[in-house]
Amino acid sequence: MRLDRFLSETTPLTRSLAKRALKNGEVELNGKAIKQAATQIDPESDRVTWQGEPLALIGLRYVMLHKPLDVECSARRGLYPRVVDLIDLPKAERLQPVGRLDVDTTGLLLLTDDGQWAHRITSPKHRCAKVYHATLASPLEGPAAQRAEEQVAQGLLLEGEEAPTKPATLNMLTPTTAELTITEGRYHQVKRMFAALGNRVESLHRVSIGELTLDATLAPGEWRELTADEIALF
Ligand code: URA
Repeated sequence: MRLDRFLSETTPLTRSLAKRALKNGEVELNGKAIKQAATQIDPESDRVTWQGEPLALIGLRYVMLHKPLDVECSARRGLYPRVVDLIDLPKAERLQPVGRLDVDTTGLLLLTDDGQWAHRITSPKHRCAKVYHATLASPLEGPAAQRAEEQVAQGLLLEGEEAPTKPATLNMLTPTTAELTITEGRYHQVKRMFAALGNRVESLHRVSIGELTLDATLAPGEWRELTADEIALF
């Protein structure tokens, strides 16, 4: 790997700032100052330091975030802060949300730079269950609740779509609090499913993904890295 690329992967420096750091004599390779950006290094065996700090490539990372309101999953800077802006890790912008939550949805969001792991969670083929708690605008109880649970179990036709949703599970916790478990991730799926039932979601919170439940010790906006056992769940 080229030395300037290695520096841009392992420090906050961009490639051009890495070249400047090299010119300024801030970088040492195996104990000797080095200035040539094109020098080839072996990240496994060569010892590179920047301003005296040893550097190592960043491995794959897996993060659980309690997504707060008014933060968006998009990678682009827009109206709201981005979820990656909450993650205080080097090169956090390389982390991708594993399935997006709307700006007004809270709860469990996973982020990673491991595309295959993310795919096992998001691909409908893997039927990974995602559990949401929704507060509804209109109470749903008695026979109407039972009918809604049956319709959700059979699949609902969402507006503008031709294929019904995959069988899902609706469980009314109170007349206005619904627990919905789905295995797909269509655009605004939960809100559109309740719209198809003639209701409206007032607030939405994701509780769990597969066997992984949002850590109750994480306040909105807080995050932690997953343990090896948690990573191995998917
Ligand atoms: N379904 C929605 O409607 N919104 C979300 O944020 C997630 C699932």
